[in-house]
Amino acid sequence: MDNQTLSATFQQFYGESPALVAHAPGRVNLIGEHTDYNEGFVFPAAINFGTWVAAAKRSDDVINVTAMDYDNQQNEFALTDIQYDENQGWANYVRGVVKVLKEAMPDFSGANLLVTGNVPQGAGLSSSASFEIAILKAISALYALPLDGVKAALLGQKAENTFVGCSCGIMDQLISAMGNEGQAMLLDCQSLDIQHSPLPDSHQIVIINSNVKRGLVDSEYNLRREQCEEGAAILGVSSLREANMTMLEETKSRMSDVVYRRAKHIITENQRTLEASEALKVGDIQTVSTAMAQSHVSMRDDFEITVRPIDYLVEIIDEVLGNTGGVRMTGGGFGGCVVALAPTDKVDAVKQVVADKYFDETGYQADIYVCTATQGAFA
Ligand code: GLA
Repeated sequence: MDNQTLSATFQQFYGESPALVAHAPGRVNLIGEHTDYNEGFVFPAAINFGTWVAAAKRSDDVINVTAMDYDNQQNEFALTDIQYDENQGWANYVRGVVKVLKEAMPDFSGANLLVTGNVPQGAGLSSSASFEIAILKAISALYALPLDGVKAALLGQKAENTFVGCSCGIMDQLISAMGNEGQAMLLDCQSLDIQHSPLPDSHQIVIINSNVKRGLVDSEYNLRREQCEEGAAILGVSSLREANMTMLEETKSRMSDVVYRRAKHIITENQRTLEASEALKVGDIQTVSTAMAQSHVSMRDDFEITVRPIDYLVEIIDEVLGNTGGVRMTGGGFGGCVVALAPTDKVDAVKQVVADKYFDETGYQADIYVCTATQGAFA
């Protein structure tokens, strides 16, 4: 979406020009899945798909928001009384972030907002975090609020946790706010320490959307989180970040098999994330390849968040890449996307194998996006 079209549409709806256009990207996670709410490590990149918000101030304590991608539906609410509305889908994200922003930084008096985006929804590429961060960026920029990327991410997460009802971690909002062009970001979800590291020129980020719509995401997601917390409690640690495999084996007899496997995924995934991010820095693709493959197996067998069409995509792409690249499911799970780090000269072969085999095997059509890592909204 170019800013000119957005401005013209804004003019049409609100009879004025927008004061600014804010943008926040979606993300792809290269490795470190479900580790964020266990205070562990994640290694995502912001991608060149995102949400745009054109915005102008209002002085009457009202937010009016128009969603271009939902038939120009409009929602209006007063800043003095922001409620969750069961009959609203997308608008609850706006209500949620505006409510937590108002509590944290009350110095603003309303806005007209026009929103559009191109992050595939329900695909595990964080369309909602990108939406939240774009709204926070727009309002904070309009009113020069002292909001930085980390604070914005924490507010976005708070809105999801307390308003929308998903117990998500901090990864999606933080990468959308703080990603760097051409770089992936190692995030320590305990200290919120960030280390950016360049992606190799030799490889491309290829995202394959299985187009299996994620079902039961919130309930299964929240259940995984509870199981991890149960594991941590039995281990006697504040989070699974503090545990290692020796401790887990010692306490195995005191936990259910399910909780054991959930904890095993988190403990081993943290290790793999650190190894893969270190390896990528020095161009050791073979180690990255192994870590991504093991991550997928762990999500499939121990964390149980993959579905058959996703496993199939990983298998056929792995046959093409071998140890020259890596492939795994990315995101919360139960459908969504696979991410591959593919040598540039193998991108076409990846596309081809998906075109040749995926539909015939599964009955789903895949979409493929060759992505670049982009700048976060507050970076
Ligand atoms: C979703 C959540 C994130 C993270 C991932 C899984 O995207 O929003 O916080 O937990 O799932 O890694």
